[in-house]
Amino acid sequence: MTSRLVTSLIGLGLNSSSSSSSQLAKRSLSIDGRISAVTAAAHPTNVGVVQIGSHRRPIHTTAAKMDGKVILVENTNRNMRVMEYAVRGPIVIRAGEIEKQLKDKPGSLPFKRVIRSNIGDCHATGQKPITFIRQVLATSTMPDMFLQSDVFPSDVRARAEEILKSCGGQSVGAYSDSAGVAVIRNHVAEYISQRDGVKTLPENVILQGGASEAVRSILSLLNEPVDGQRPGVMIPIPQYPLYSATLAEYNMGQVPYYLDEDNNWALDIPELERAFLEAKKNKIHPRAICIINPGNPTGSVLSEQNIKDIIKFAYDHNLMLLADEVYQHNVYIGKFFSFRKVQAELGAPYNTLELVSFMSASKGFMGECGLRGGYMEIVNFDPQVKATLLKAISAKLCSTILGQIAMDCVVRPPAKGEESYDLFMKERTEVLEQLRTKARMVADTFNTFEGFKCNAVAGAMYAFPRLTIPQKAIEKAKSLGQEADFFYVKQLLEETGVCVVPGSGFGQRPGTYHFRTTILPPTDQLKEMLNLFKEFHQKFMKEYK
Ligand SMILES: Cc1ncc(COP(=O)(O)O)c(C=O)c1O
Repeated sequence: MTSRLVTSLIGLGLNSSSSSSSQLAKRSLSIDGRISAVTAAAHPTNVGVVQIGSHRRPIHTTAAKMDGKVILVENTNRNMRVMEYAVRGPIVIRAGEIEKQLKDKPGSLPFKRVIRSNIGDCHATGQKPITFIRQVLATSTMPDMFLQSDVFPSDVRARAEEILKSCGGQSVGAYSDSAGVAVIRNHVAEYISQRDGVKTLPENVILQGGASEAVRSILSLLNEPVDGQRPGVMIPIPQYPLYSATLAEYNMGQVPYYLDEDNNWALDIPELERAFLEAKKNKIHPRAICIINPGNPTGSVLSEQNIKDIIKFAYDHNLMLLADEVYQHNVYIGKFFSFRKVQAELGAPYNTLELVSFMSASKGFMGECGLRGGYMEIVNFDPQVKATLLKAISAKLCSTILGQIAMDCVVRPPAKGEESYDLFMKERTEVLEQLRTKARMVADTFNTFEGFKCNAVAGAMYAFPRLTIPQKAIEKAKSLGQEADFFYVKQLLEETGVCVVPGSGFGQRPGTYHFRTTILPPTDQLKEMLNLFKEFHQKFMKEYK
């Protein structure tokens, strides 16, 4: 260990202005903390070389080096530097600063609180956890305390016992198989089979730390050039930025296709053809098409016919289908059709298409975002491809067991006649009914605003209204180097405390402006938010029209 030397200028107190750079280069600290022999040589051009084991690595003498850092932003992964994730982007960072100001200096702003409508984080906005899920989690975590007592209903205890039997050492603290706890994978397979009337194998179910992890695993699997062309994935515009961010991180091609706003954000097949051809022209090889249904940020629910057409398109273009169905329980208008079911019903040859569908414990009626539970079902995979995917996943060991248990409770809720059934149904219905009411309220209210057009929120947890921004405001935004919708949303935040995300963070047709708001705040807060919004919008229009 002592031979591995690391310059540690801060540790040596050598980062003061009195230390010359040659002094800095001449001292070093071993990993066990002792000052060792001088191994770093100062270079006349201010590029030093430090001996670490048998490697020599150049160190650039910059202001950052004065702090003893060898990792500087300019030598970090460039893909990570370019990726963006608007849902937690600059507007949200500003909201955090405003919250701090309100706390430190109450009364210093014309509003009392920030209303966070930027992220689909259900519990953060006040939604209560489902009792059954939390009781199963508590019992699984503390079996000595709860298994033998009658504090919790008998079906809760039976469920926890069943899961624990499938866990190493009967503890949630043990790693599971990389693809998840066996009994939970069985339950997921039963859920899909029942939902869709198709046979689903537990071997095709992979439990993951949220749907995000699953999406990332699959995109990574596809990250290989084909015929010398860069791999790409077709993604909707607007889209949930997990996709654009991950593709940027993996340096894969983004193949954007526009959703049809005038047709409730449906997918338009000629537009898919256009996007596909354009990618090929740009030497990008589309390998998969991603569909988010119900839609984020659009709040749309796709029709069965549209899903059929998409499956045919994917089949005809040799694309894997990635169906992000995390909002399958959040449907307020119409009906949810899973890609799995429609594919099976289409029959040959479409039922041979590779399909991955994603589900999460974070959304629906449960909203357990923090537990990080999710799964993917992989269908029609080549066995070797599947083995490669599982190998890659095994390097991450396994997803969190508590997240897996939350997922179990979602796919296998209490059955009629079981002790927890009534309360479970009451809580589930309450959450979903409130969301339904709020979905309608938000769209209806926005449609009364001058220059707003908001499609019905048929599903998911978001509205994505289109707004007409006056030319004067567009010019003003330009002069500040901002997108017009960013400018609008930032003004809204600064003047009212209402935090939503500009449409540019999700992508939109050039020349159109949108923003995304969640429908999650409690009804009274949502009403307050819409009133503040209205006043702000009227003022904004007066100022810039
Ligand atoms: C469409 C979509 N997919 C995936 C996710 C990620 O969900 P999870 O919390 O399971 O990672 C989200 C989260 O908002 C989402 O909206």
